[in-house]
Order: sequence, then C-alpha cells, then structure tokens
Amino acid sequence: MVTRTPLMAGNWKMNFDHLQSIAFVQKLAWTLKDGKHDFGAVEVAVFPPFTDLRSVQTLVDADKLKIAYGGQDLSPHESGAYTGDISGRFLSALGCRYVLVGHSERRTLHGETDEICRDKVAAAARSGLVPVLCVGETSEDLEAHGAAAVPVSQLRAALEGNDAVTELVIAYEPVWAIGSGEAATPEQAQTVCRALRETLAELRGDDMAGDTRLLYGGSVKASNVVGFMREPDIDGALIGGASLKIDEFSAIVRYRQ
Ligand code: G3P
Repeated sequence: MVTRTPLMAGNWKMNFDHLQSIAFVQKLAWTLKDGKHDFGAVEVAVFPPFTDLRSVQTLVDADKLKIAYGGQDLSPHESGAYTGDISGRFLSALGCRYVLVGHSERRTLHGETDEICRDKVAAAARSGLVPVLCVGETSEDLEAHGAAAVPVSQLRAALEGNDAVTELVIAYEPVWAIGSGEAATPEQAQTVCRALRETLAELRGDDMAGDTRLLYGGSVKASNVVGFMREPDIDGALIGGASLKIDEFSAIVRYRQ
C-alpha cells in the first residue's frame, strides 16, 4: 500500500515583499488554527521570493510552524562570479527543504533549457535540497504531440546522468493552464502523471517511483482541488494565484475537511 503524504505548495512567484510574507505566514498559521499541527497529514510548503526567505525562516523557527519553504530557483553553481544568482547552499543554510527547478516561466522568460534544469537538479541534491522539478507542455506541444510527450521528455532529460538524485518532487504544470483560469481536467492530469510515474519507474525503479510525489499545477483553486486529489497518481498541487489569497490557500490545504 503506497502512502505518499500530500503536498500543497504555494508558488508566490514575484509577489509579496518580506513584510507581506511575514503577514501571510502568520495568517496561514492562524487560519489553520494551529500551525504546529499537521493539517490532517497534509504537508504545506511556500515558495517566497529570495528576499523573504530569511523572514519566513525566523517566523517558522520561532513559532515551530509546520510549514516548509523553499526557493523559486537556484544556480547550478556552488559559488563564484555569478552576479545575481543564488546558490543551493545558501538556500539550505536558510532552512529551505525544497527548491523549484524548471518552472515554465524560467524556461520561457530566462531560456532555461533541459540541460540547465538537469544541472540545477544536480545542484539542489548536492545542497541537500529536494528539487521540485516542473514539467509541462504548451498548447502547441499538446496539439502536435499530445499531453505527455513533452513532460516525459523533460523528466528524462532532468534525470539523465543524475544518479545521485534519489529524492525529488515532480510538478506537472501544463503551460496553457498556468494563470489562465482553465485548469486541466483531473483525468487529463492523471494521464500525464501516470506517464511520469511510469517513466520514473523505468529510469529509477518501482520503489523510487512509488515514493515520489507528483503534483498538479495550473489554475488550481479551492473549488477544483478535490477532483485532482481523487486521482491515484496526483499527490498534491503547486498553486500560483490562489496561494496568494489566504482563504483560498487555507481551503486548499484543508481539502479533506
Ligand atoms: O507554479 C504554480 C503555477 O505556475 C500555477 O499558477 O496561478 O495557475 O495557479 P496558477
């Protein structure tokens, strides 16, 4: 019997300065009644902008909140002359558990290739972070190759030669569903997540495939999350817009109640 702890993760993108992040995390802990509890065995994570991470860490540590957090990106390098970049080691030192890799906005707006994503996945693992690898097809990809082809090839590329990566989370985010208000159907998302899990089993064996959490992302809100969570290969959600609204995000985290 497979037991994967559901993960509800808010990607704040470039929203919230550090004061807003503090206010949001305080409200989140309060709204969920007691941030020290485990919200019904659902893991909660937030991905604030880099400049907010220290503040979030201070708050989480001081109040012993069960809220994980991570960076939205990392450098493939450890340190050196990389102006503007952030090392995985720095994120680890701030208590981050996770880091997003290959979000479609990074792939599109910053030209991140599959090779760069592979190096970032490796850098995350070297720094003791769990990479949350984002994969997903554009509407053109969908029309030309169907839904699963591009996400599966992005997963293959990210793991190639990365044998040291033994733990990761995969977020399936169809690009056409991000910020559009038009989510995939649970059945569509399940089909792609199934294909991703099968690919993982082929590459890394059944144990790792069975243990790895697959998230769906793209216009997730309180009103549609339950449908995704009923699917056998969907273990949580990566939430953008709805993660910035306290009532929505709390309701998503409490989807079982
Ligand atoms: O990483 C989360 C994301 O890209 C989805 O955004 O606003 O469609 O939930 P949104």
